[in-house]
Amino acid sequence: MLGWFGNNKKAYSVDVDIHSHLIPEIDDGARSIDESIAMLTSFQQLGYKKIITTPHIHSEYYPNTKQVIESGLQTLKEEISRVGLTIKIEAAAEYYIDSEFLSLIENSEEIMSFGRFKYVLMETPFMNKPLIFDEVVFQLKSHGFVPVLAHPERYTYLMDDMSWLKKIRIQGVQLQITSSSLVGGYGKGPQKIANQLLKENMVDFIGSDLHRKNQLPLFEKSLRHKIIPQNLKNNELI
Ligand SMILES: [Fe+2]
Repeated sequence: MLGWFGNNKKAYSVDVDIHSHLIPEIDDGARSIDESIAMLTSFQQLGYKKIITTPHIHSEYYPNTKQVIESGLQTLKEEISRVGLTIKIEAAAEYYIDSEFLSLIENSEEIMSFGRFKYVLMETPFMNKPLIFDEVVFQLKSHGFVPVLAHPERYTYLMDDMSWLKKIRIQGVQLQITSSSLVGGYGKGPQKIANQLLKENMVDFIGSDLHRKNQLPLFEKSLRHKIIPQNLKNNELI
C-alpha cells in the first residue's frame, strides 16, 4: 500500500488525513463553505477517503467548544452531500496546551478525540515548551486518551533538542508531522527535522494541517516527496 507511485501521484498512500481546519469561520482555517468544499474536493481527487478535521481550540484566540465544532461539521456534511462528494468527514480538535485545556481534561466527555484509541491532537506555543506539558500528558493518559503532538518539527524550542521528542515518545506521546514541512513549506529548519524524524521512524502520523485553499499546491507537491512511512498510523483510522 505504501510506496513510490511516480511523478504525479502520491508518493505515499494515506487514506485518512488527521489534521486540518476545514470547518468555515470558526478558526484561522476555511473562510467560507465554498472554500471548505474546494479543499475537500482536492482531498478526494488525491485519493483520500476520510478527513478528520481539527479546528483550533485555544482559550484566548479560538474559544471553540465541542458543540460549536459539531454544529459546523453538520452544516459541512450537508453541503458535502449536496455537492455530491463521497469523502467522509469527522471532527476532532487541535488543542492549545494551556491551563484551560488542562482543566477541560477533567471533563473528559467534552474532549474531542479520534480513532478507537482516543487520540487527542495538541499543540504548544512555537517559541517555548509549556511548563504544564508533562501534567497534560499525564492527565490525558489517566483519562484514557493518547496524546498526539502536532507538528513537532515547527517548534523553535525543539530545533536543537531531538532528545526531548524521543523522551516524550517513550512516555506515550505520538508525533504528527505536517506533510508540507517535508518540502520546505515552513523553512529549512522544520524541513530538516521532519525528514530526520521520518528517517528515525519517529513519525506516528502525517497530516496536511490545511487551512486555506492557497496551500493546496504545496500540499500536493509534498505528497510526491519520497518518504519511508514505516510507522504511519493514519490508515488504521479508516
Ligand atoms: Fe493545525
